[in-house]
Amino acid sequence: ITYLHSSTDSFRPETGIILGTGLAGLVADIDVQYEIAYEDIPHFVHSTVESHKGKLIFGTLAGKPVVCMQGRFHYYEGYSMKEITYPVRVMQALGIRNLLISNAAGGLNPAFSESDLMLITDHISLFLPDNPLFGKNISGDRFPDMSDPYCPKMLASARRIVQEKGISHVQEGVYAPVPGPQLETRAEYRLLRQLGADAVGMSTVPEVIVAVQLKIPVLAVSVITDMCIPETLKKAELQHILANAAVAEPRMTLLFRELIKPLD
Ligand code: HPA
Repeated sequence: ITYLHSSTDSFRPETGIILGTGLAGLVADIDVQYEIAYEDIPHFVHSTVESHKGKLIFGTLAGKPVVCMQGRFHYYEGYSMKEITYPVRVMQALGIRNLLISNAAGGLNPAFSESDLMLITDHISLFLPDNPLFGKNISGDRFPDMSDPYCPKMLASARRIVQEKGISHVQEGVYAPVPGPQLETRAEYRLLRQLGADAVGMSTVPEVIVAVQLKIPVLAVSVITDMCIPETLKKAELQHILANAAVAEPRMTLLFRELIKPLD
């Protein structure tokens, strides 16, 4: 924190943003004031995925001060849950009062289509092999309440913006995190669907758990980059996933911009 304060002339972000696979384009809309590579930040791990750039960006979006992670850390990279969620703790120490998260996810709900956005209303996180809150409790409640992990007020704002701006192809649903890095089998997709999940992905929930414990209101949005219906499943291709993320990106960017405007 001392390092970041001294590298940013004590810039005070109000909103934290974590950008997922293929969704880094929002950065083009940020009036960037400081850019710091993860490898220069003490205790930060490095993002090892090629489709994720590793930088912490400080600047203004829609006139509001934000700190944005361009590239996130994933459990499948071999880091612990504590390491991948450390940036949330750093952003809290920097003073953020809201957190916006995006990710790429597979669609399990047959009513969805590729490149839809899905406002995450809830999650099922029973199967992750590790947890950022395991061990000695350092930051808040021992048993954080999870009755509303995704801030109902922010969800209401998002719904209003979707209406007012006419943002198309926006769904809502339950996100199931998996450790990855392999994609799921048909039988696994079938199981996840039966459990009540609408989308599946390899991120987001560890960060949400820490944010909830720290009492930071969170909104998270998935881009459905590939449909995961067992009967019609196609071979997964990263190119296809990235292309579908790119199609959805302007809608995601518009939603995040509009959300940030009145947030305080
Ligand atoms: N499974 C897990 N993560 C994903 C998928 C998927 O099908 N698509 C994009 N991210």
